[in-house]
Amino acid sequence: MTPLDEMRQQAMQQGQGAMSLALAFVGVHNGLFEALVAPSTVEALAARVAVDVGYTRRWCDAAFAFGYLDADGDVFRLTALGDAYRPSAPGSLMPFAVQSVLSAHMAERAAGLMPSGERPGERVLGERATILPWFGPMLEASFRGFFEREILPALDVFASLDAAGGVAVDLGCGNGWYLRALASRYPNVRGIGLDGFEESIRGATEATARAGLSSRVTFRAGDLHHYTVDEPVDLVAMNRALHHVWDRRDEVFAQLFSMLRPGGAVVIWEPRWPDDRAQLRDGRRRAMAFQNLSEHVQGNHFLRPDEIEAAMRAAGLTPKTTLFGDEAVVVGTRPR
Ligand SMILES: C[S@@+](CC[C@H](N)C(=O)[O-])C[C@H]1O[C@@H](n2cnc3c(N)ncnc32)[C@H](O)[C@@H]1O
Repeated sequence: MTPLDEMRQQAMQQGQGAMSLALAFVGVHNGLFEALVAPSTVEALAARVAVDVGYTRRWCDAAFAFGYLDADGDVFRLTALGDAYRPSAPGSLMPFAVQSVLSAHMAERAAGLMPSGERPGERVLGERATILPWFGPMLEASFRGFFEREILPALDVFASLDAAGGVAVDLGCGNGWYLRALASRYPNVRGIGLDGFEESIRGATEATARAGLSSRVTFRAGDLHHYTVDEPVDLVAMNRALHHVWDRRDEVFAQLFSMLRPGGAVVIWEPRWPDDRAQLRDGRRRAMAFQNLSEHVQGNHFLRPDEIEAAMRAAGLTPKTTLFGDEAVVVGTRPR
């Protein structure tokens, strides 16, 4: 095989990988994987999830081809792989399907915007009606377990918050999973989440009611630049949100400082952009490099922990960074 043949084979495999995730997204979005827990004909499946029979037939054939489904005559059932794409499955593969389709959308936008240099901002995320509702669940499925296993036990700021019966504010809260995780673990913690997308706040409020946490955790829609608290709070969290407002960092950190009571803390969680470009070739950092292109479309870019620390110091906060692999959590404490 010539080197070109080898590269062609590799490209074909990559193409099939992208297609398999795109196909999974169609099933995730329309509830097909969940419905197929009960083996089903095409007609019964379409009726169960209230979608078109013709589309369902084509999807089932393709899902069979890619190994998501097996078939006994006309009856389709999930393979172990198909079962793992159910959004409610433990450790669901759903985020990979959503990320793949979101990446394709962002790549298409970046391709078109590159000549002019226009950066349309956050609204690009909301341009595809099928992707937006999955954005929060994708982030929750990707990061909540990691937060509960690795970050919560490692930082004493959360236990102190509980001991004080304090209030945590989550700015750019998405579907609110962070405050739900905190309030589930710590019975005295109360939380307020804010996000710019109304749709996220609706999802956050509903999921919090389902979790029985509505008496302690509430959400509102709004721009974090205009958010004020009635009285100083103990903790302000921003998860993957600071890089969205980095161009106004001096203003944002001054605002964060003024929201905190003395001794309170800002807890910033961001992917760690590496110091050295060579590190981007490594495993999961490739995805981070792609995502930084898609962040550029939204007017953002990823940050290095030392940049975050410097912005905290300039605002009078005392920073301390803890690294969790390629994730950085920077806690900035307001002096007493
Ligand atoms: C990458 S998402 C992270 C969501 C959530 N913190 C999580 O970890 O799942 C960034 C969030 O910040 C929100 N956001 C960005 N700029 C904002 C602003 N100026 N005001 C309020 N929310 C904002 C976006 O709507 C989005 O939900």
